[in-house]
Amino acid sequence: MQRILIINGPNLNLLGRREPEVYGTASMQTCLDSLRARYAGKADIAYIQSNHEGDIIDAIQQAWTEGKADGIVLNAGAYTHTSLAIADAIASVALPVVEVHISNVWSRETIRHKSLISGVCRGVIAGFGLGSYSLAVEALITDN
Ligand code: DQA
Repeated sequence: MQRILIINGPNLNLLGRREPEVYGTASMQTCLDSLRARYAGKADIAYIQSNHEGDIIDAIQQAWTEGKADGIVLNAGAYTHTSLAIADAIASVALPVVEVHISNVWSRETIRHKSLISGVCRGVIAGFGLGSYSLAVEALITDN
């Protein structure tokens, strides 16, 4: 059984209500319910959301230092494009981290084309709506 921690960054607490034309109308709770049903017996899925950069860094560190997870699915939201500190946290832990985006960031404004975290992540999945989370969980389960 793989222990997977999903971390969502800023403004992703508003999924389902926030810019539905970009992020859809389903809530993260709906997504988590279906992930947990789909991967029952294969993955134990924990979830954290924070609007604060330091909380995200703490969650990444503790997943490793406290042995809480075998892999991380991270949607860092806008911190993806700005946070060297989150990139450093990912590089600091010996855990695979899959970078996830709901939208296809490369089809959007130029400022979203640059990710400071991709280079230290195991891989990147973007553009499949909330299905991006499922693909990332699948990637962690099948990747060895
Ligand atoms: C996002 C894309 C980011 O550019 C944006 O700041 C977000 C969400 C996505 O999931 O598509 O908050 O990470």
